[in-house]
Parts: sequence; structure tokens; C-alpha cells
Amino acid sequence: MIYQEAFAKINLSLDIIGKREDGYHDLKMVMQSVSLRDKVGLSKGTQEGISVRSNLDFLPTGEGNLAGKSAREFWNYLNLPPEDILIEIEKKIPVSAGLAGGSTDAATVLHLLNQALTSPLSLAELQKIGLKVGADVPYCLMGGTALAEGVGEILTPLPDLPPCFILLCKPSFSISTPKLFSIISQKRIRFRPDTAGLLAGIHSGDTEQIAQRMFNVFEQALNPHQEKTISEIKNSMLDYGALGSSMSGSGPTVLGIFSDEDKAKSAEYSLKEQYAETFLTVPVSGVC
Ligand code: C5P
Repeated sequence: MIYQEAFAKINLSLDIIGKREDGYHDLKMVMQSVSLRDKVGLSKGTQEGISVRSNLDFLPTGEGNLAGKSAREFWNYLNLPPEDILIEIEKKIPVSAGLAGGSTDAATVLHLLNQALTSPLSLAELQKIGLKVGADVPYCLMGGTALAEGVGEILTPLPDLPPCFILLCKPSFSISTPKLFSIISQKRIRFRPDTAGLLAGIHSGDTEQIAQRMFNVFEQALNPHQEKTISEIKNSMLDYGALGSSMSGSGPTVLGIFSDEDKAKSAEYSLKEQYAETFLTVPVSGVC
């Protein structure tokens, strides 16, 4: 059995540039890996084909799971029939949370399969395979701080964030990503992130500038109930001393950036009383 950790991603910004012919959207996002992680194991299977097992019994157990689908795509790319394998996932990243939990597991399976074959494929090739599995998978294969454009596959690595604490808080409801895309594409987007200002903050290592430029256009497509909960969590983080707060991906996880660990811990303690899925994390560097 070989193992690898699969880190969650957050969006420091998310902007939608336009709708494409294929139904997908062109995006401009600043992504960041954080220390909240799943553990993914790969071993020879005792059953035929690709099996997936996890500590959450509602997750798909075969190629319906992105981790299983990525294994199938890996062998398709090599023009080989899939081997009998068992993928075991210890899930810590909340599901349907805007944290790319499924995509990061899929990316990790690609790394593990490549490692098992003594790394015949480059990162770029793995990213090409990953894109067939999901738009966030190419980013998850590299991790760290990056600008993602196109559907998410045009990636520019950025300098690491300055040391800081990133608090994540997921309310109990889920938001459907395709539904949120469809709602927002019927609206005029009134407010957009200052991506250039955010990138300048990252290049100069200014935590305050980074935190204050965080912005996600999807927050304009939430229903009143979702909007109320998200803004309550954001305000709570800001009251506890977060330098900035925003929603990640298609939500509903809210993130807050703190430079002071004690303030971040107080916010974590308080939010955890109401929201069990609250996690204090730090930024994680990528492979590039
Ligand atoms: O690629 P992934 O499966 O993560 O995307 C989930 C859904 O989000 C897609 O089916 C699509 O509706 C929407 N999406 C999009 N444009 C993107 C990424 C995702 O419209 N760039």
C-alpha cells in the first residue's frame, strides 16, 4: 500500500469571465492549498477493476467516485486496461463544500499511480488526464498558490503566501455547483474581484492586502437564506479579527485570513459551537 496526503484548496478570488460553447465557463481564480487534508492509499485490489473505499459510506465506491474515474483515465491515457486496484480514502475535507475535496483525491490517485509505475508521466501529462476528470484537478496536481484561468486548467504558479492562519467554516447546507453557475449566468455580475490588486499583494507578501482583496462573484448568486448564513459567518470572522473573509469556490465554506494565531483560535472556538465543520489551517506550498 502506498499513501499520499490530498490537500484542500480554497479560492482567494473567483471571477467568471464568460460562458463557453461547451457549457463550461471561463474563470479567473486565485487558488491556495491549505493544510486540511484527506489521506489516499493505493494497493492491489482483491476485486476485479477499480474499487474505492472511504470512511464515508455515502460516497461512490467505484468509477462514480472522482478518485476511481481518475484511475480509469490514467490507464486510458496509457492505452492499457485498468489493473485491479483498491483506493482507500480517509476523508477529512467536507464533501460538496467548495474545497475541491473530490478533485484533490482524484489528483492524488494520479500521482500515486504514476509513482507506482516509477513516474513515466510528467506533471503536464497528469494535468491533461486530470482535466478529463474535473476542472479543478489540474490545479490540485500542482497545489500551492496559483492563478487559474480558462476552465481552471491554465495555471500560473505564484509566490507562497506570507505565513498566516486560514480559518474554514462550512455551514450544514450544500450548494450545487452546476446550479450556481446556471443562476449566475442569467444575472449581470455587478461586483468583481480586484484580481490585479490581489496578485500585487501576493507578489509583495502583504497579508493585509491579500485578505482585503478576497472576493468571490458566486456570493451574488446565493438565495436569501444562504446569503444570510454566509454573511453571518464572514462578520463573525471579521469581529474576531480576520483581515478579510470570503466564500470558497461554489461554497458554502467561508474562509477568513488571520495574521494573529490567538485571534484565529478564538474565532475557531466560537464558530465551532454552531458549525461543527470548522477548521483552522495554514497555507501549504505546491510541487512547482
Ligand atoms: O469540472 P467539474 O466537474 O468540477 O465541474 C462541475 C460543474 O461546474 C460542471 O458540470 C459545470 O456545470 C460547472 N463548471 C463550469 N465552468 C467551469 C468549471 C465548472 O461551468 N470552469
